[in-house]
Amino acid sequence: MIRSRIIATGSYLPERVLSNAELAAQVDTSDEWIVERTGIRQRHVAAEGEFTSDLATEAAKRAMARAGVVPGDIDLIVMATATPDQTFPAAATVVQMKIGIDDCVAFDVAAVCSGFLYALTVADAMLRTGVHRRALVIGAETFSRLLDWEDRGTCVLFGDGAGAVVMVAEEGAGTSADHGVLSSRLHADGRHNQLLFVDGGPGSTGTVGKLRMKGKEVFRHAVNNLSSVMHEALEAAQLSAADVDWVVPHQANLRILEATAKKLGLERDQLIVTVDSHANTSAASVPLALDVAVRDGRVRIGDVLLLEAMGGGFTWGAAVVRW
Ligand code: COA
Repeated sequence: MIRSRIIATGSYLPERVLSNAELAAQVDTSDEWIVERTGIRQRHVAAEGEFTSDLATEAAKRAMARAGVVPGDIDLIVMATATPDQTFPAAATVVQMKIGIDDCVAFDVAAVCSGFLYALTVADAMLRTGVHRRALVIGAETFSRLLDWEDRGTCVLFGDGAGAVVMVAEEGAGTSADHGVLSSRLHADGRHNQLLFVDGGPGSTGTVGKLRMKGKEVFRHAVNNLSSVMHEALEAAQLSAADVDWVVPHQANLRILEATAKKLGLERDQLIVTVDSHANTSAASVPLALDVAVRDGRVRIGDVLLLEAMGGGFTWGAAVVRW
């Protein structure tokens, strides 16, 4: 059977780093509060004139260079973002143009913080049909532009960044010993739209709007939904938590990461944690964390990775990948 396999990763963070101390000078918060409640110490913020497509293009170019592929090799771009440069065209087509790919399939996926899991699942399915051979799957965001910088309950939590992977179609035996995406499971429950949303849009207010969130309720749902979908994805891959080498989680809050890992009986040091230095970069957070762990040598050939994310909608999902 055909499997989709991630052969390289890349990421990009804007140069500007915004510390908790700087935020505490703007809103009624403190470094101590932010670190204790979230684990976040700093976040990166895009420069004026630096767009989501710029971050995505840089991350994608880095992944392509590591994969040893040229623009003509890519026949599919699936990009997860809630902060495209414009309402349309799809940011994926802007990235396509900036990379210099003349023709391919390119579209965006809107699942907010779960976006990368959704994009990975769509790309995996398209690669497994045999129609596409090499895909770029990207998560990129400039969430700083959606924040109400006077709302201390949200502005301290998010950051900007991009992560990308190159995926290829490859022959596998159809067993859990294969390399590549072994399983993925996605969910959505629109009844919770009002717990995490943006209060504007092209079809309603005609404005971009700002992010609004009921943090405590999101937190509660996150731990339950994530641990249950992680179990589901493992079962679908015919593996158990004991087979997992690394959890590559969405980086929203260190307490969510730790509580979820604990529910699965996983150790704290099996978690890839970047929330301290990146904050929550929405769809970019999983591929950013993956790139960090691949580049620092933690992730090795044959390792079993459990990717997971939850976001506005709610949407949530998990995937099991053998490296
Ligand atoms: N600095 C200082 N105090 C703050 C603050 C900040 N940045 N943000 C909120 N507070 C205050 C609140 O006003 C509240 O004060 P009160 O008790 O006087 O009303 C107090 O801290 C506790 O607020 P609460 O919301 O109960 O804190 P919490 O422990 O739930 O932590 C979050 C808040 C947002 C960090 C946490 O709920 C969270 O991470 N939720 C999930 C968010 C998430 O994952 N979102 C993205 C999903 S993709």
